[in-house]
Amino acid sequence: MSAYPPVKVGLLGLGTVGGGVTRVLARNAEEISRRAGREIAITHAAARNLDTTTANTGGMKLTGEALEVVDDPEVSIIVELMGGYEPARSLVLRALANGKHVVTANKALIARHGNEIFAAARANGVMVGFEAAVAGGIPIIKAIREGLAGNRIEWVAGIINGTGNFIMTEMRDKGRDFPDVLAEAQALGYAEADPTFDVEGIDAAHKLTILASIAFGIPLQFDKVYIEGISRITREDVAYAEELGYRIKHLGIAWRDQHGAQLRVHPTLIPQRQLLASVNGVMNAVLVQGDAVGQTLYYGAGAGADPTASAVVADIVDVVRTLTADPDNRVPHLAFQPDALSDLPVLPIEEVETAYYLRLQALDRPGVLADVTRILADRGISIEAILQKEPLPGASDAQIILLTYEVKERWMNEAIAAIEALDSIHAPVTRIRLEHLGLE
Ligand code: HSE
Repeated sequence: MSAYPPVKVGLLGLGTVGGGVTRVLARNAEEISRRAGREIAITHAAARNLDTTTANTGGMKLTGEALEVVDDPEVSIIVELMGGYEPARSLVLRALANGKHVVTANKALIARHGNEIFAAARANGVMVGFEAAVAGGIPIIKAIREGLAGNRIEWVAGIINGTGNFIMTEMRDKGRDFPDVLAEAQALGYAEADPTFDVEGIDAAHKLTILASIAFGIPLQFDKVYIEGISRITREDVAYAEELGYRIKHLGIAWRDQHGAQLRVHPTLIPQRQLLASVNGVMNAVLVQGDAVGQTLYYGAGAGADPTASAVVADIVDVVRTLTADPDNRVPHLAFQPDALSDLPVLPIEEVETAYYLRLQALDRPGVLADVTRILADRGISIEAILQKEPLPGASDAQIILLTYEVKERWMNEAIAAIEALDSIHAPVTRIRLEHLGLE
């Protein structure tokens, strides 16, 4: 247990993202406090409509009046998840003036009023976290601002509006029509309250404004972004581009050279072999070109309750770390506070479960496969697929390839030893572990 009392957080907005933040904080409370150095408690929350919220509101004072939360003297951090310019701007400025740290997912607010908000934060000696404002759950701000701090960033190109990418993907893959796909994105909770923000590129321009500033060290300049949406792209354009080896993606591009910076958001043909071309559906990805590192690519969910909450909670943890044990070491060396490391055992390889690809060189005669499958079955190893291939050039043995379902390495070691002991097997078994990595 930490020597520090819980940090009290006030939440403005209990919609999709607000609900996600309450649930993620509750679900991962133990690990989060081991990282932050103390517990984090949302003690006060404001929402327009408390009746419809799916948030986990246990232990919170609830109100319809956001100002009450911002002025609550108990609260150290205000999390703004209302969206839009006003009253979000006034509430955030008031929270900062009250000496509270602010975490926000509001890209419109940061893109338009960030210069003013950051000046107010500096004047009051408090932090403003906005990781969730760009590309939802992808920690792209942290990556550019910290991980790539040694580089001169030359350009950034990103798929940074999930709704637009979902529409483009469905038009290409299924030949669906625009309004139909947009309605589905709205139902999934990805689209902005005003869907023209997604379709006309305004949401992407908000995010690009922020990316350009942290990449190039320039003030936020939303009004200088060239903006084109996807509403004029037809199914035919998509098909013709494909025929020519390209894919159309709605990109936010920040580029700089000796003449200046380019900030632009528009549909763009990109080569099909470029990794960004494979980013489909509501997924986001940001490609960053740094002079030292070259290209790095960041991919993940750019919208949705839990992915966006992931970024909001990370910002809250960042603030809490500065309020806790060792404020000069904002991030503990091993991510968790040194006195909160756990003794989770590291498993020996024999205890690890994976699926396997096995290749056997076997005599091509009746019963060989039966022997092999019996050995596997005796150890509870289930076969997913089997292939028999011609002997390799100059050899007479057949090649048998098996894919198995997951099994403990210990049982596979035994099975391989038994298979290699068969008269009909003439070479060591080739074993390659197989991981689905989230795909079936
Ligand atoms: N409307 C946005 C999108 C939500 O579709 O990407 C996340 O900012």
